[in-house]
Amino acid sequence: MPKHSVIPGGDDEGSTVHRGANFPTHRPRVFSGIQPTADSFHIGNYLGALRQWVSMQETHETYYCVVDLHAITVDQDPALLRQRTRVAAAQLLALGVDPARSVLFVQSQVPAHTRLTWVLECLTGFGEASRMTQFKDKAARSGDGHASVGLFTYPVLMAADILAYQADAVPVGEDQRQHLELTRNLAQRFNSRYGHTLTVPEPFILKEVAKIYDLSEPTVKMSKSSPGGSLDLLAPVKQSVKKIKSAVTDNDREIRYDPAAKPGVSNLLTLLAILSDASIAELENSYSGKGYGDLKAALADVFEAFVTPLQERVAAYLTDPAQLDAILADGARRAAEVADVTVRTVFDRVGFLTAT
Ligand code: TRP
Repeated sequence: MPKHSVIPGGDDEGSTVHRGANFPTHRPRVFSGIQPTADSFHIGNYLGALRQWVSMQETHETYYCVVDLHAITVDQDPALLRQRTRVAAAQLLALGVDPARSVLFVQSQVPAHTRLTWVLECLTGFGEASRMTQFKDKAARSGDGHASVGLFTYPVLMAADILAYQADAVPVGEDQRQHLELTRNLAQRFNSRYGHTLTVPEPFILKEVAKIYDLSEPTVKMSKSSPGGSLDLLAPVKQSVKKIKSAVTDNDREIRYDPAAKPGVSNLLTLLAILSDASIAELENSYSGKGYGDLKAALADVFEAFVTPLQERVAAYLTDPAQLDAILADGARRAAEVADVTVRTVFDRVGFLTAT
């Protein structure tokens, strides 16, 4: 008997990827996710990634997910998780993720993710998973033997997120490159063992130009784990202005883009360039002869102009959580329509009986 003769609507010739559909277009499909592990996104999240999420709505079929299952791989608090999941979704909406053009949803509301994870876990080598550097780092930080099995299998869940949607491209930061490589390997392994089923996604590593550094330690990436130097989108504006004004610079007085010699000033220039839609060269010109105080004041102004209306939009979503939850429930329903097609095919190919 041919190996895949019982796939409903399938074809044994190798082009049996069932993509499902939510969009009338044939644009390449994008999937990305963000964890609800902070009270606010910071400007580095926005400029480094979320801005691309928004613009990719013009060119791609976009699936965006608040990955709450990933958030419980480390210590967590239920009330905080619920709050942060809503805050994350509200920020994505306020930043321009548009539910009419994207499928925006919460991971735990689509059972396909965990169902596919199990199958992929059974294709993942223990040694292969043990080589994931992010796991090794996080496990080392949580102390000997205290890391959860969930933290260990985190990258496989991420692979399931991506593969369930047959995503063509995955916009992520450099730190996720290894997880994406695992995702590609698992898709290829599944396909070679069971017949072509899963789209092998391309990494879409987001450009370094938009890498934003910590304001108080401008050689390390801005991060939620170092709140002193991060500009949070939802922080009180006055507090952010203060952080900008006391950002670390250097001892000469020249406003020049030179990340190696002048990381602090260069970071401020990058931020101001993007937020004011100017080029670095233009800024270098217009600030020649001026002081760091002028540069900081200008950045404080554009930052304030950016976050003030954003905070109002986020607050509006959060004052009506029922409405927000309804947007997310609709997203989950649309996401499941696509992901369930993949899981059904995968389960069938693996040899599970179809529940009728
Ligand atoms: N691991 C990603 C991060 O920490 C978040 C994530 C989970 C993700 N699933 C994903 C990103 C799928 C892209 C695609 O940034």
